[in-house]
Amino acid sequence: MIGLDSPDDAAVWRLSEDKAIVVTTDFFTPVVDTAYEYGSIAAANSLSDVYAMGGQPFLALNIAALPDNLPDEISSEILRGGAEKAREAGVVIAGGHTVKDKEPKYGLVVIGFVDPRKMISKGGLKIGDALVLTKPLGGGVTTTALKQEKASESDVKEAIEWMSRLNKTAGQLAVEFNLRGGTDITGFGFLGHGLEMAEASGVMLSIENSKIPLLSGARGYAEKGIFPGGAFDNKTHVGGSAKFDEKIGEPAEMLLFDPQTSGGLLLGVPHEKLEAFQKRAQELNQPVWVVGEVCAGQGIEVHA
Ligand code: CO
Ligand code: CO
Repeated sequence: MIGLDSPDDAAVWRLSEDKAIVVTTDFFTPVVDTAYEYGSIAAANSLSDVYAMGGQPFLALNIAALPDNLPDEISSEILRGGAEKAREAGVVIAGGHTVKDKEPKYGLVVIGFVDPRKMISKGGLKIGDALVLTKPLGGGVTTTALKQEKASESDVKEAIEWMSRLNKTAGQLAVEFNLRGGTDITGFGFLGHGLEMAEASGVMLSIENSKIPLLSGARGYAEKGIFPGGAFDNKTHVGGSAKFDEKIGEPAEMLLFDPQTSGGLLLGVPHEKLEAFQKRAQELNQPVWVVGEVCAGQGIEVHA
């Protein structure tokens, strides 16, 4: 159902009328200093693409590349972080493969199920949908500040908490409300992934910059120009497809291109469902922010 012709968050293969298999993989180099948290974030990120399709993951395999001289307790902490996050998701890690490499890399291959009639895709936005985001932005600037030894401990702790957080409840909420348009915000940043959705859905996204949730330190790091290289690549890639109110200013604008690791879901919620959706999110202890609206047209407009 979903493959290379219409790339989405994961590949989807129909098994029957009400059952399809969802397959995805992702792995990356450490984003934080602590092995356990790195494993946990990498696993949450790998699982996220199944939730972004409206699926439920059930089985995973580890993929790891580890340096020869890495102490055993570090590698086992990475794998323990991943295993405990998978368990929290109700997912069994049933095996995997490790190779030697100079720089550590870790992630999962994840298999899940989705009801094809309830599948969520980048192309499912409809004009009039409210755009809802489920995690704050600013993970990229915060982890870059950490690498440059300019981050405060509390900012790093906050970023780790969000990056380790599963998109499970957000995904369940999306399925419960029968949503059709959604993706997860990762390496291409909010606007990169937003543009993918606008193009796949044939719509324009109208964003209210003042409604965008940010991690506590993000604005400060952005004002000091502490951005990962990926933020500039994302800006180049999006190019003229995003138009900004000039009152927004360069640092805030760049935060919308900040690459996220294990970011939240961006969902289209039909207006008539929004109030009930927000109420249910609160019951489930799932933060949601309404950041804009789906309109006729193309590209993205960002208002101050
Ligand atoms: Co994704
Ligand atoms: Co991915």
